[in-house]
Amino acid sequence: MTGSESGFSDGGFIELDGVEKVFDVRKKTGFMKRERRQVRAVDSISFRVERGEMVGYIGPNGAGKSTTIKMLTGILTPSAGRLRVAGIDPSRQRTRLAHRIGVVFGQRTTLWWDLPLLASYRLMHRMYRIPDARYRENLGRLVELLDLGDLLDVPVRQLSLGQRMRGDIVAALLHDPEVLYLDEPTIGLDIVSKSRVREFLRELNAERGTTVLLTTHDLQDIEQLCKRVMVIDHGRLLYDGSLTGLHEAGESERTLVVDLERELPPIEAPAPARVVRVDGPRQWLAFPAGESAAPLVARIAADYPLVDLSVREPDIEAVIAKMYADQAERAIS
Ligand SMILES: Nc1ncnc2c1ncn2[C@@H]1O[C@H](COP(=O)(O)OP(=O)(O)OP(=O)(O)O)[C@@H](O)[C@H]1O
Ligand SMILES: [Mg+2]
Repeated sequence: MTGSESGFSDGGFIELDGVEKVFDVRKKTGFMKRERRQVRAVDSISFRVERGEMVGYIGPNGAGKSTTIKMLTGILTPSAGRLRVAGIDPSRQRTRLAHRIGVVFGQRTTLWWDLPLLASYRLMHRMYRIPDARYRENLGRLVELLDLGDLLDVPVRQLSLGQRMRGDIVAALLHDPEVLYLDEPTIGLDIVSKSRVREFLRELNAERGTTVLLTTHDLQDIEQLCKRVMVIDHGRLLYDGSLTGLHEAGESERTLVVDLERELPPIEAPAPARVVRVDGPRQWLAFPAGESAAPLVARIAADYPLVDLSVREPDIEAVIAKMYADQAERAIS
């Protein structure tokens, strides 16, 4: 079904308009006393994701990432706003949507704990009414790509975390979903397993055109997989754009590391570039990430006995930390 057939006029495959989720929480405050409180987990979020995009959805603990994903699958109903996935209202037509989406929650498995992997997959085969040929083909391909061939007879409870995660990814994709939501798919995985999962996702997106929405605390997931990133904090969207743009929005800086022939007083650099550290003949200069290093290098080379230099890219973690801090500051003032 194409977007227009499903009643979509403006092309967004995933579409949120002013979506909110408010939880009513009852807290025990004393004997027989309970206080009612509302938690606004998602606060007026709007965005569109096009078919075939791979988007990172990041933010600190409690930001509202999982709540958003749960609304996108239909597990939770929004308190306000409009939400559509492939033209479907997830909470109203959850079963219909289930045939078109795949979900992986890194923190908890969707597999049957006591069953061997293959038995879980057979159950999915029936649950999703996947045609036999299609099921066999997908299972073969996915098991090979994720290297699970030797593990199909092992009960899920005996799998390592990385094996289980790969098992979960296979389960989420057996029915050829058009969208894959991944909620922390690399959590707790070692470096080798992480890169295997990332490699697989990249291929899935490139070759099948599967739309991917990914939440993570590992910014390398984003750097290696997503051109577009959304940052959420306290239920609000702080940023939606390219990863490079995120650096600019965070006003991040690059660092020029300069080795001089000998120890010298701090280099007099044209503002806003400035020396941030001196250690013997080595000096570190910070300058805006959005600017070229060339003029600064030329200036130093002309005026100082330069031996060597290198440029360090801004650390995305620092950029995001600054973004959260700025947001918190605005909230206070
Ligand atoms: N079922 C619920 N009932 C009450 N409050 C909830 C419920 N689910 C989530 N919340 C609250 O909503 C807020 C957002 O939670 P959410 O799980 O979406 O955050 P998150 O961004 O996924 O965080 P994390 O990075 O820790 O996974 C939190 O304050 C959380 O306590
Ligand atoms: Mg979460």
